[in-house]
Order: sequence, then C-alpha cells, then structure tokens
Amino acid sequence: MKLVEVEFERSVFSPEQFPRDQLPQIAFAGRSNVGKSSMINNLLQQKNLARISSRPGKTRSINFLRINRKFYFIDLPGYGYAKVPRKEREKWKWLIDAYFGENRQLRGLVQIIDSRVGVTGNDAAMIRFSLEMEIEPFIVATKADKLKQKERAQQEKKIYAALHQFSLPRYLFFSAKTNLGKNEVWSWIEEQIRNKP
Ligand code: GTP
Ligand code: MG
Repeated sequence: MKLVEVEFERSVFSPEQFPRDQLPQIAFAGRSNVGKSSMINNLLQQKNLARISSRPGKTRSINFLRINRKFYFIDLPGYGYAKVPRKEREKWKWLIDAYFGENRQLRGLVQIIDSRVGVTGNDAAMIRFSLEMEIEPFIVATKADKLKQKERAQQEKKIYAALHQFSLPRYLFFSAKTNLGKNEVWSWIEEQIRNKP
C-alpha cells in the first residue's frame, strides 16, 4: 500500500459523531495496552498518530484515521483493564455496540492479542461478538519480539488451540518493533477493502 495521505479524522465519544460517508473501515480491537495504537502507527509509518500510551486504558474514544481518502483505520478503545471504573466500562460497551451495530462500512477487524499472554476471556468475548456481527476477525499476536524462540513455539501451540473453538485456524505473529508480520497484515487489509461490496 502506497501511503499518500494519512489524516487523523476525528475522535468519537458518542454514536452521533460517527462519519456518515461510504469509505470502507478496518477496525483494530484488543485489550488495553496490548499494542493497538503501536500497530496502527507501525502500519502507517507514523510516530504517534494513533496515540501510544505508557498508561493502559488511555484511548477512551473511537479514533478514525483516514488513509489516502479511500478508507479508514479505526483505533478502538481497549478493554479488560481492571482499574477502569464500571461507569467507564459501560460507556465503552455502549459505544462499541453502537459502532458494530449500525456500521455497514466495517469490512474487517484486526483482533490483537498479546503473544505472551494468548487468548484471554475478554479476547474470546470480543472474537465471539465480531463473529455474531458477521465481521471477520483476523487474529494478530503482537509483541512477538519479546518472546524467545522456545517460548514462541509454546505460545504458537497454545494460541492455535484457543482459536480452534472459533474455527479460526489462521493467525499471525507481529511486532511493532521489528516489523514482523507487517506485510501480511497489509495484505489482509487490502484484501478486505478490495473484495467486499
Ligand atoms: P490503549 O490505547 O491504552 O488501549 O493501548 P494500546 O493497545 O493502544 O497500546 P499501545 O500501542 O499504546 O502500547 C502499549 C505499550 O506497549 C507501549 O509502551 C508500547 O511501546 C508497547 N508496545 C506495543 N507494541 C509493541 C511491540 O510490538 N513490541 C514491544 N516490545 N512493545 C510494544
Ligand atoms: Mg491506544
């Protein structure tokens, strides 16, 4: 993908702020602090367009990044951070439900997991939710640079087994630090944008 123009389009805090145009969207979901914003910046060759935080639970809004005026990357707020107050979590759910529920432009979901942790209960819930919404998830296990070779082989099996319940055999190791998996993620994204109506 040749990146001609990458724009931070808007931050959305409530459903009436969603853009109403027809551009296709690719969303990125995952636990708080898993590395969503880092992956987006890596793919877009940006330093901090999708804001990277040292504190988990930083991204509270749904952020729309417009690429080449052709499609959006959607940086979803992270889930599963225990210290987030209940009210905040309920707001997250409300916004996410609205986003998935009324969105016909969403073509695919990059579902990010931590390669060292594997598929958590919340990750599984998110995967189930996207399948119910008929949005195809592409599972990407990030921070793979932090795994030693032997650990990686172990995690590979563990993650494969966890995804089996969803009949999702395909997933990918990724690192925002080393660019591992970058080309494969782009290929998948391009396929989603191209192939569907
Ligand atoms: P929220 O917006 O809070 O939900 O977090 P996020 O999922 O957007 O995570 P973010 O990209 O802000 O990254 C969280 C931390 O993990 C930062 O300190 C990143 O530098 C680090 N990180 C992200 N991806 C990688 C990676 O591939 N390798 C390594 N080593 N560190 C990473
Ligand atoms: Mg973020």
